[in-house]
Amino acid sequence: MPAGLVEITFTLNGREVAVAVDPSRTLLHVLREVLDLTGTKQGCDGEGECGACTVLLDGQAVRSCLTPILKVAGRQVLTVEGLGEPGRLHALQRAFIDHGAVQCGYCTPGMLVSAAALLAREPAPSEAQIVEALAGNLCRCTGYVKIVQAVQASAAELRGEPRPPAGAPPPRPIGGSEVRVDAADKVTGRARYAEDYKMAGMLYAALVRSPHPHARIVSIDVAPALALPGVLHALTAADIPGLNSLEGYSRDEPLLNPPGGSVRMLGDAVGLVIARSPEAAAAGAGAVAVEYEPLPHVYGAREALDEGAPAVHGGGNVLNSYEILYGDLDEAMGQAEEVVETHYFTPFIEHAALERESVLSYVEEVPGGERIVVVAGHQEPHWAQGWISRLLGLPLERVRVITPPTGGAFGGKQDPWPLMAGALAAFHARRPVRLIYSRHESFAASPKRHPYRMDYRVGARRDGRLTGLHLRIVANTGAYDCDGWYIPQYALVAGGGPYRWQAVDGRAWAVYTNGPKAGQMRGFGTPQSTFGRECTLDELAERLGIDPLDLRMQNALAGEEETFLGYRPAETLGYRECLEAVRPHYRRAVEEAGSWNRQADGPWRRGAGVAGMWYRFGKSGSIACHAEAELGLDGAITLFFSAPDYGQGTTTAIGQIAAEALGVDARSLRLVNADTAHTLDSGIQGASRSTYWVGGAVAEAGRALKAHIQRTAAEMLDRPPDSLKVDTDSVVAPGGSVVSLSSVAAEMERIGLRRRLVAAFSPQVDQLLAAGERPEYLPFFVAGAHVAEVEVNLGTGEVRVARVVAAHDVGRVINRQGVEGQIEGAVLMSLGAALMEEYVPGVTRGLADYYLPTFCSMPHIDVIPVEVPSRWGPYGAKGLGEAATLPTAPAVVNAIYHACGARVRELPATPERVLAAIRKERS
Ligand code: FES
Ligand code: FES
Repeated sequence: MPAGLVEITFTLNGREVAVAVDPSRTLLHVLREVLDLTGTKQGCDGEGECGACTVLLDGQAVRSCLTPILKVAGRQVLTVEGLGEPGRLHALQRAFIDHGAVQCGYCTPGMLVSAAALLAREPAPSEAQIVEALAGNLCRCTGYVKIVQAVQASAAELRGEPRPPAGAPPPRPIGGSEVRVDAADKVTGRARYAEDYKMAGMLYAALVRSPHPHARIVSIDVAPALALPGVLHALTAADIPGLNSLEGYSRDEPLLNPPGGSVRMLGDAVGLVIARSPEAAAAGAGAVAVEYEPLPHVYGAREALDEGAPAVHGGGNVLNSYEILYGDLDEAMGQAEEVVETHYFTPFIEHAALERESVLSYVEEVPGGERIVVVAGHQEPHWAQGWISRLLGLPLERVRVITPPTGGAFGGKQDPWPLMAGALAAFHARRPVRLIYSRHESFAASPKRHPYRMDYRVGARRDGRLTGLHLRIVANTGAYDCDGWYIPQYALVAGGGPYRWQAVDGRAWAVYTNGPKAGQMRGFGTPQSTFGRECTLDELAERLGIDPLDLRMQNALAGEEETFLGYRPAETLGYRECLEAVRPHYRRAVEEAGSWNRQADGPWRRGAGVAGMWYRFGKSGSIACHAEAELGLDGAITLFFSAPDYGQGTTTAIGQIAAEALGVDARSLRLVNADTAHTLDSGIQGASRSTYWVGGAVAEAGRALKAHIQRTAAEMLDRPPDSLKVDTDSVVAPGGSVVSLSSVAAEMERIGLRRRLVAAFSPQVDQLLAAGERPEYLPFFVAGAHVAEVEVNLGTGEVRVARVVAAHDVGRVINRQGVEGQIEGAVLMSLGAALMEEYVPGVTRGLADYYLPTFCSMPHIDVIPVEVPSRWGPYGAKGLGEAATLPTAPAVVNAIYHACGARVRELPATPERVLAAIRKERS
């Protein structure tokens, strides 16, 4: 046995194992790195903060990241792999699948074993007991609701109660709750995320990061690192063969800051070390000698605009600005009989996807040479391919990006930086390299949501008709652009909202500071200004003495009207329908809160708030999107598209759309998603675009292939093409003649017909708009409205959210569970922003000091899908994933006001801020 190792024996998933271990290691390390049981996940830095690593030790749920391996000797360990396996699933695993409790799946193994421990000691747990037992397991995707339902259902099954009969399958693939294509792999621990891959001869990378928020780099000396055992390479900017730049995604952002340049935020990278072990790589990164000359820094956007403020990139600190001028504001304000002025503030918000940034990179042989392969969760693999090829000075085809299962993204994994660093490492090492951010690195170096300062001035007639909107927004884009260039426009478009304004004067700025780089995050720039506007409308409603929901309805845009942007929405707009959908819930909640408060004799008061929104889905650029469909020689149909599935269920939904188009069973289809070597670039995958655009392209490809199959089979069966039904493995003619799909494929091959077809989806937006009216951004909007019911403690400022009712115009439900899960998850994420989440530059370091919603934060959530069919989307669908993050925070803050008369104007509404607002109101 190698020196330093000891042999221990324990029972793992029912089998005795003997393993030589480093006694200083944890159980998590041994499971994942020694035994290759990668179902158990790591979401934090082994600090016990996330619960992803939970396993059972002698039946007790424990954090394997905190369990010394020597403590395991002679004991029983159960991991998710031992709970059940395909064909022999545990009741919990089945229930998680059936109830849609799995999204990205990164938290799922830990959730399952925690729940298994609970059910072993409590066969009939109450909801409160489930919440208590799972409170230490974080999930950033699901909103927890379906997990609780799944635990309850499996408990009932284990008690011997009959499982509720499965409902009749939907007559068509669209609109049902088709099981996620990846659910079985995720509940059994078989799904392999980037961090789970191992390759022979794999090396490890670590980054040299700045301890200063702003400093000049005087010199970098890598020699001390290279002198350490196990360190093979220590790279700086000088080792980048191509363009040291993220230009196109982030202006002025290099991959590695060179000597003579500056670091502009804590955690900015100046070097990359590659070594034989993670420990040697970390030691090497620590040994690189960097001489810094600290410079003055600025964290606040307003301060960054002051004369004499530190120049983050030289010159002024304004990255970009935008203005919207519509109508005559002076005239509109002149007609106003009531004018309200407000100021609202939001902070940096962290994505906190449970999977940290993880990249495996290697060199593979291909005909004619080699190519760099990068395996990583990323939202735009084809775009990442482009940045990597420019970084390395390689042709595009010499770079391949593969998107494996991804443990959450929420916009944060649009940043190509980690993939570029991984590619650079493999380029130099010429061996596989694994790069994984620590959770602290992820907090420091990943993009955040932009903090806003918002100044609203809103005018209205006494009868409630809105007249003018004057809006100023200053957004903090941190140290780098990261698409912050577009923030001013997004802020203003969302800031005006789905309302009929007579005139608008809106201006917004994105400002550089030395805060963390701010970038894409779910809703990109829109939740903040939606919060400001919807709270301002409530302030206006009170001044006018008009019911808040009635004020919104009175001014809500219908789909055909021109907007304050100067054009009509290209798609149908179901805002009024959403307001109608929540109306009875709002009325009931207001009434119930009133009667509770009239009788309350303790510190708690209840309140109800409403908020609405629109969200522009889709982005600028090409309006057309492409996908492919192929009939294989084995008769199987494969769809090729690029809509990375980071938990939101795009692969499943797009499979349903393809099945509908082809008329076959969704489960018979092969789906190839987001591998640049095999799929076309289906365009940017943000802005809730996948179902509408990529789904639209897949529907077109499916229909084209179906027609192609029918024409070929028609010749074979001597029947008209339209009379033939394409089935899962055959084509059937009236009267019963049948030809198999494999025979059809063979016939296509024989006569030289292509079996793989490309098709495009291109909504005819130009037909709707007058000549020359095409705006810079596509005028596609979705809408929604939320009602929040809260309890506020007048003595402590504590806020509990009891219920959220969420109505969203989804156009057409493609996957019911998917729609519910997206909305529930977004509600919890937004509830976090409303009450607890705040990243403070220079202070916040990780999950220990950044509070995320847990099971204990979970309100009752009622999801109301509103179906106002789209004009062009596949089967009427629209985008959804981000929209639901917009209305919860303002609905909660409006409900706090309704409960106690205290207006909170800065998020998050912590107990301290609520209490301060209550005291201010009383003073
Ligand atoms: Fe163990 Fe986070 S990895 S609690
Ligand atoms: Fe729980 Fe993604 S499904 S973290």
